[in-house]
Amino acid sequence: MAISDISHRKRYLAEGNVYLPHIAVIEKIIEETPGVLTFHFNFKDDKLKDEFTFESGQFGEYSIFGVGEAPFCISSSPTRRDHLEFAVQRAGRVTNALHRLGVGAEIGFRGPFGNSFPLDFLQGKNLVFVAGGIGLAPLRSLIWNVIDNRDKYENIDIIYGARSPLDLCFKYDLDAWEQDKTVKMTTTVDRGDDSWKGNVGFVPSITEQVAPSAKNAVAIVCGPPVMIRFTFPVLEKLGFTPEQMITTLEKRMKCGIGKCGRCNIGDIYVCRDGPVFSYAQIQGFLSSEY
Ligand code: FES
Repeated sequence: MAISDISHRKRYLAEGNVYLPHIAVIEKIIEETPGVLTFHFNFKDDKLKDEFTFESGQFGEYSIFGVGEAPFCISSSPTRRDHLEFAVQRAGRVTNALHRLGVGAEIGFRGPFGNSFPLDFLQGKNLVFVAGGIGLAPLRSLIWNVIDNRDKYENIDIIYGARSPLDLCFKYDLDAWEQDKTVKMTTTVDRGDDSWKGNVGFVPSITEQVAPSAKNAVAIVCGPPVMIRFTFPVLEKLGFTPEQMITTLEKRMKCGIGKCGRCNIGDIYVCRDGPVFSYAQIQGFLSSEY
């Protein structure tokens, strides 16, 4: 099965109005970096809390009443259903307002939207995760999903980088994956500091050094556009074909359901056709538009 067979796997939250947000309550806030927070939340409605399902890779529209809404991936794994998580980098009006929220605050949630990572395509394969900065958010949903079903997958390589040690997100996950003997974890920073003893170098160069084998493997890549653009050629050099490379894009999304036309890249809508794509699907316009 090719990944292109797996798009359009959408599951809307309810039969009813997709514009209607469901009320959720913030239960915990983690400061990942000075500009990034992770929010743990649950739905106020107990029935919805029990019945809500999603798949790794899908996203939601999160709203603050009176301010606006913005899309973020669900960064927790569907295999861990005590609560849901999303991570937010402070960047504009809605994200600033989200950063001002405290535990107990109510937000709106619409979703889940979009397609998901193709678990059936990934099963039985060696998986190579390559992430930069907050781009680890959607991948960590899949990484935990895979770890929680460890016997279905072969080797797991994780290569993760950030600008500096302070900018590394999800440090508790990085620690857990370091400890996991079934995972090969490589962490790097663009610029070290006095306390940093690990790798220093950009994610694409470190990927080239780690040199994961392309044999029976799939690489799943997410990070800043420039990182994605330079990582794919490295993976190609290592023997990965465009069908063996997957990414998830976030671009100017607003409505999340293919109505506003804000998220197009080339002739695709990220919200409607993605956000998960194989490199084969997007390589034609990646360099010019993303
Ligand atoms: S976000 Fe509106 S069309 Fe994609």
